[in-house]
Amino acid sequence: MADRTKNAFHMGPPPAYKVEDEDTLSPRWYDAKRWGKKVWIAVGAIIAIIIIIVVVGVVEGEKKNAYPDYSKLSYSLTDTISGTSFFDEFDYYTGYDPSSGFVHYVDSTVAAQYNLTYASSSSAVLRVDTSVTEDTVPNASTGRFSVRISSKKQYSVGNLFIFDVVHTPIGCGTWPALWLSDPSNWPLNGEIDVMETVNVVSSAANQMTLHTSSGCSMGVKRKETGKQLTTSCVNTTDSNAGCGVTGDSTSFGTGFNSVGGGAMAMELRTEGIRIWQFVRASIPSDITSGTPDPSSWGEATADFPNTDCNIGTHFSNQSIIANIDLCGSWAGATSVYAETCSGSCETQVANNATAFTDAYWEFGKFSIYTAS
Ligand SMILES: *[C@@H]1O[C@H](CO)[C@@H](O)[C@H](O)[C@H]1NC(C)=O
Ligand SMILES: *[C@@H]1O[C@H](CO)[C@@H](O)[C@H](O)[C@H]1NC(C)=O
Ligand SMILES: *[C@@H]1O[C@H](CO)[C@@H](O)[C@H](O)[C@H]1NC(C)=O
Ligand SMILES: *[C@@H]1O[C@H](CO)[C@@H](O)[C@H](O)[C@H]1NC(C)=O
Ligand SMILES: *[C@@H]1O[C@H](CO)[C@@H](O)[C@H](O)[C@H]1NC(C)=O
Repeated sequence: MADRTKNAFHMGPPPAYKVEDEDTLSPRWYDAKRWGKKVWIAVGAIIAIIIIIVVVGVVEGEKKNAYPDYSKLSYSLTDTISGTSFFDEFDYYTGYDPSSGFVHYVDSTVAAQYNLTYASSSSAVLRVDTSVTEDTVPNASTGRFSVRISSKKQYSVGNLFIFDVVHTPIGCGTWPALWLSDPSNWPLNGEIDVMETVNVVSSAANQMTLHTSSGCSMGVKRKETGKQLTTSCVNTTDSNAGCGVTGDSTSFGTGFNSVGGGAMAMELRTEGIRIWQFVRASIPSDITSGTPDPSSWGEATADFPNTDCNIGTHFSNQSIIANIDLCGSWAGATSVYAETCSGSCETQVANNATAFTDAYWEFGKFSIYTAS
């Protein structure tokens, strides 16, 4: 190849300039006129690659900076769940626990009999049984009585939920959660965990998590004060850990309970899902006065923007659910249980009734506002 071009050079007209030395007779690499077909192909390929890199870079850069417009929505109150009729708004789940818990979820009659759900004019309590021991009939040798309730009414995008939480459950073997989902269409209709943790949480924290079907990621720009955990919300990745965000050490358990709890606000809108946690002394006055305006609250504790997740299609028909599971696939996992507790989770649940006296939710009012 090189020889042929060299010969061609010699056969051409005499150069108009004086040839200084033999080296200059070789075609210079930058002399495009002398490039062969292969060189042209290589150059074309390099240019194409550069263009692709630039385009991908621009697109990725735009994606990285993309952020939804959470501009102010105007909300009006649609539902209040409170007072002595609190539990009337819920169904009691009594089936086999889908999370493999060492638990027997009871119906409303048994719950009333064991005082596991109790509503007064000011608050509603949902607890794990502490009366059944090794020596009673029934005993807890196949799991302890507890409650899982699910609101009859379901909600989709365009709603703001304010949950007044007075006390969060704690104790070895417990797996409490305040969440929203459409359990009969899971994960297609999504799951939003507003409060959730396991076992002894004096040092641990609240986890706020989404679970979805495929095509929902939080590996995007977010504005939140909580700490991001895994970013795929999809049920088949990370062993269904979901895309979680943790609050600080006082966001659940002793720290949260000792200040009288507080308010959890969850806004479900097409632009994203945001969750704020306010301890009681810092609940914004617009929440207390019944005219909540999330645009005035500052950065959320957890922010799940719609950048790489279509919130409207991934989340619909959400029931409000509160439960206290026992052991099961998270709290009861050997390594997880051993982090804060000793012995066996199931032995604790079966034989240590008095260890569950702090295993209760106490809720004030739940208020649901709808965007106009
Ligand atoms: C049931 O639980 C509530 C809330 O903890 C308590 O105030 C009430 O005294 C209990 N009732 C009985 C019969 O134990
Ligand atoms: C628990 O109750 C079951 C069913 O009544 C009984 O068969 C079992 O022996 C009991 N276990 C203990 C440890 O008393
Ligand atoms: C995940 O969800 C799909 C439906 O979207 C379901 O078929 C599958 O069984 C689920 N897998 C797990 C591990 O939950
Ligand atoms: C939500 O529930 C309504 C009423 O049951 C039903 O018609 C609708 O198809 C459900 N939507 C989804 C996405 O499942
Ligand atoms: C019962 O539970 C408490 C609190 O977790 C624990 O300190 C105690 O050791 C347990 N008792 C037995 C007999 O396991």
